[in-house]
Amino acid sequence: MTSIPDRTAHDGTHIPAVGLGTWPMDDAQAEEAVGRALGLGYRLVDTAANYRNETGTGRGIARSGVPREEIVVTTKLPGRHHGHAETLASFEESRARLGLSYVDLYLIHWPLPRVDKYVDSWKAMIELRAAGLVRSIGVSNFTAEHVSRLEAETGVLPSVNQIELHPALPQDELRAFHAAKGIVTESWSPLGRGSRLLDDPALGKIAEAHGVTPGQVVLRWHTQLGAVPIPKSADAGRQRENLDVFGFELTPAEMAAVGDRPHRRLGGDPTTHEEF
Ligand SMILES: NC(=O)c1ccc[n+]([C@@H]2O[C@H](COP(=O)([O-])OP(=O)(O)OC[C@H]3O[C@@H](n4cnc5c(N)ncnc54)[C@H](OP(=O)(O)O)[C@@H]3O)[C@@H](O)[C@H]2O)c1
Repeated sequence: MTSIPDRTAHDGTHIPAVGLGTWPMDDAQAEEAVGRALGLGYRLVDTAANYRNETGTGRGIARSGVPREEIVVTTKLPGRHHGHAETLASFEESRARLGLSYVDLYLIHWPLPRVDKYVDSWKAMIELRAAGLVRSIGVSNFTAEHVSRLEAETGVLPSVNQIELHPALPQDELRAFHAAKGIVTESWSPLGRGSRLLDDPALGKIAEAHGVTPGQVVLRWHTQLGAVPIPKSADAGRQRENLDVFGFELTPAEMAAVGDRPHRRLGGDPTTHEEF
């Protein structure tokens, strides 16, 4: 079993340096994939109310036999439940589906600036943390401006911001902002989901030089940037591979080569994207 290092956020939260993404698995796939991944050594699991697989994720956790306190279980508040009372109710539904007495990391999935209720949700999440139902609170797809508003209006910074991050979207500015504030950056679509990134011959060359796969080169690039990738894989071999990125080091030239490509966003722009 692989043991993986941690990142530490400003509030003392420990986040394993690689996690397992579960979108777009259904409940049955998530149960199988999460159960197996935990057995392989994964200790960070990423789900969301909107993935509709919290039930399967919870079953996978239960069947893994891994002690609950070793696992960082992450779920997310959907857009349709922004608002104070709505957030408290939505969290309770997520917790029940997961079958857990507490959640480790609860994130606001998208800021939805037009709706303008993410600060109300954040205040509810601060209460959930105070009640011991959530160990740590964070956000996803927030810009530096959105994060700064949370801090200005509540005095509480997120421990994590989970953002789209891959070699075609390296997010230098936002990562620097996070680093200055002690916020852990998590990378979604870390392998550039479906973009053919991994077929790039330049990545193939680097992989060959280290005796690893292109996927491992990209995940290693994330970890050397200080970010936490959460690759999704339902395949046992690729799950194992994605965890095994701590036995080699990319040179500065290789780091630059991985990130040297035209910028491309795969998902929504956080300032306008609406997802309920
Ligand atoms: N916060 C947000 O708004 C947000 C948005 C999108 C995603 N996410 C989270 O981020 C996670 C990961 O993002 P993603 O699923 O979009 O993209 P990804 O992890 O970059 O790519 C997943 C795809 O890559 C394949 N794959 C995995 N490991 C591989 C390897 N070593 N070599 C070759 N192919 C490999 C997977 O197939 P197999 O399963 O067949 O291995 C799957 O098709 C999601 O599952 C979700 O938890 C969050």
